[in-house]
Amino acid sequence: MRLIRVPAAALLLAVGACLLSFAHGQGSAALYNLTARYEGSSLASIFGVSDDFAINQAVVGAWQAQLAQRASTFLEVPLNQVVVRSFAIEQQAVGVRRRTRELSSLDLAVAAVSSGSSSGSSSRRQLLQSGAGTTVALLATFDVLDTQPGAHAAWDFTALATALGAASVAVNGVDRSAGVLVGFFASPPPSPRPGAAALRGQPPLAPQLFAYFDSMLAPGAPGRSREVVWYDDSDFLEERLDGTPLNLVWRNKTACFTRPTCGACSRAWGATTAPYVVTLYFRDPVQLATIAIRQVNAPAVKTVQLLPWPAVNISGAPAPRTGFLGPPLFNESADITPCPGTLTLAVPRRRSGLAEAVPVGGSQAELPKALRRSAVGGVRISLNAPPTGASQRTVVEWVRFTGRALYPLDASEYSM
Ligand SMILES: *[C@@H]1O[C@H](CO)[C@@H](O)[C@H](O)[C@H]1NC(C)=O
Ligand SMILES: *[C@@H]1O[C@H](CO)[C@@H](O)[C@H](O)[C@H]1NC(C)=O
Ligand SMILES: *[C@@H]1O[C@H](CO)[C@@H](O)[C@H](O)[C@H]1NC(C)=O
Ligand SMILES: *[C@@H]1O[C@H](CO)[C@@H](O)[C@H](O)[C@H]1NC(C)=O
Repeated sequence: MRLIRVPAAALLLAVGACLLSFAHGQGSAALYNLTARYEGSSLASIFGVSDDFAINQAVVGAWQAQLAQRASTFLEVPLNQVVVRSFAIEQQAVGVRRRTRELSSLDLAVAAVSSGSSSGSSSRRQLLQSGAGTTVALLATFDVLDTQPGAHAAWDFTALATALGAASVAVNGVDRSAGVLVGFFASPPPSPRPGAAALRGQPPLAPQLFAYFDSMLAPGAPGRSREVVWYDDSDFLEERLDGTPLNLVWRNKTACFTRPTCGACSRAWGATTAPYVVTLYFRDPVQLATIAIRQVNAPAVKTVQLLPWPAVNISGAPAPRTGFLGPPLFNESADITPCPGTLTLAVPRRRSGLAEAVPVGGSQAELPKALRRSAVGGVRISLNAPPTGASQRTVVEWVRFTGRALYPLDASEYSM
C-alpha cells in the first residue's frame, strides 16, 4: 500500500467532508473482521519470551498492543479503530487431529499465576502443554473499522500479514453497515458542551448510530444519597466517600499504587459489608466486549452479571428493566486472579451483539428488538465474603469496559 501524505489542513477537510457526508446519510463505513495466524514450535516462541512459563498477562497485553499498533500504522487508521477481540490456540501434534480452543482472558489470568502455584489448573496445563513435536498456532481475531473506504486503495492483507509478523491474515467478514464514529475524529469542542444531562430526552444532535469505547470506567454507580450518581454530576465529589462504589466511576482519581502492590486504598471500592456487591450503571445502552476488574487486595470475585438497559432510573429514558441479561458472565467459587491482578472477562461475540447492525431508524427509546437482547444497562459484581480480619478485605481499584454505546446521546462522552 502506498503512503499518501497530505497536509494536516487537508486531512481536517477530509474528516469534515466525511462527517458531513455521514450526516447526509451517504457515508459508508466498513468493519473488517480479521484473523492473524501466528505459528511456532511453542506459544513462547510466538510471544517472544524464553519459555511458556514466562507468558503472563503483561506479556500478552504488550503483544496485543503491538499487534494493534502495527495494524493501525500499516492500514493508516487511528489506533482506537483496531480492536483485538480474542485469541485461540491451535495445537497440531503429529498424527493427532487439529484442535482449536478459545483462549479466554481467564486462561491468561490463570497463566499469570506465578510458577510454583499448586493450583494444577487444567486451563494452565492446557495452555502450557505445547512442547516438542507439536506445532502451535495462535489465532488473533481483531476488528478494523474503516471509516473512509473510498479514500484509499483496497487493503492488501498479504502485506498486512508481513507487517504484523504473522503467517497469514484472513478476512472473516466485512460489515458495511457499521456506523461512523464522530468521536474518533472529534477535535476538542469549541465551546463548553451543554453536558450529557441537558441532552437527555432531546433529539440527538447528529444521527450517530454508535460509539466505541475502550477501557472506559462505567459512568454511574450508587452515591451517598441517591441510587445513581453519574461521573459528570455537579455534586459528584460530595456523593463520593472513601471506599464507596463511586470510586469506580471517578475519572480523575490517581492510581492506588505506583508499583504493583497489594493493600488498602481509599480511592477504590472496599468490600466492607455484606452482601459484598457493587452495581455499575451505563446511561446509554451499551454492548460489551470485555470487562476488566482490577483488584489490589484479596481478589475474591464470585459472580459478574449483566443487567438489561436501563438498569436504573434515568431521566428521559424508558422505565428500568429488572432481572439479568442472560446467565452470569462469571460464576466461580474461587477467584484465582493474582494480587494485584486484573480479571478480564470476554463477552462471547454472539452474546455481546457487537457484530449486529445498528439500524438507522432506531433510537434509545425505540431500541430495535435484536439490540434489546444484548443492550447492557449495568454490571453487578459480587465477591466472596472476606475471611475475618480487615487486612483481607477485597479492594477493587477499577472496572474498565470495552464495547460500544448504542445511539449515544452525546458521542463525545466516549472520546474522552
Ligand atoms: C468474525 O470472525 C470470527 C472468527 O472467524 C467468526 O466466528 C465471526 O462469525 C466473524 N464475525 C463476522 C461479523 O464476520
Ligand atoms: C476533574 O478534574 C478537573 C480538572 O482538573 C476538574 O475541573 C473536575 O472538577 C474534576 N472532577 C472530578 C469529579 O474530580
Ligand atoms: C425508580 O424510581 C422509582 C420511584 O422513585 C423507585 O420506586 C424505583 O425503585 C426506581 N427504580 C430503580 C430500578 O431504581
Ligand atoms: C453459579 O454456579 C453455581 C455452581 O455451579 C450454581 O449452583 C448457581 O446456580 C450459579 N449461579 C447462577 C446465577 O447461575
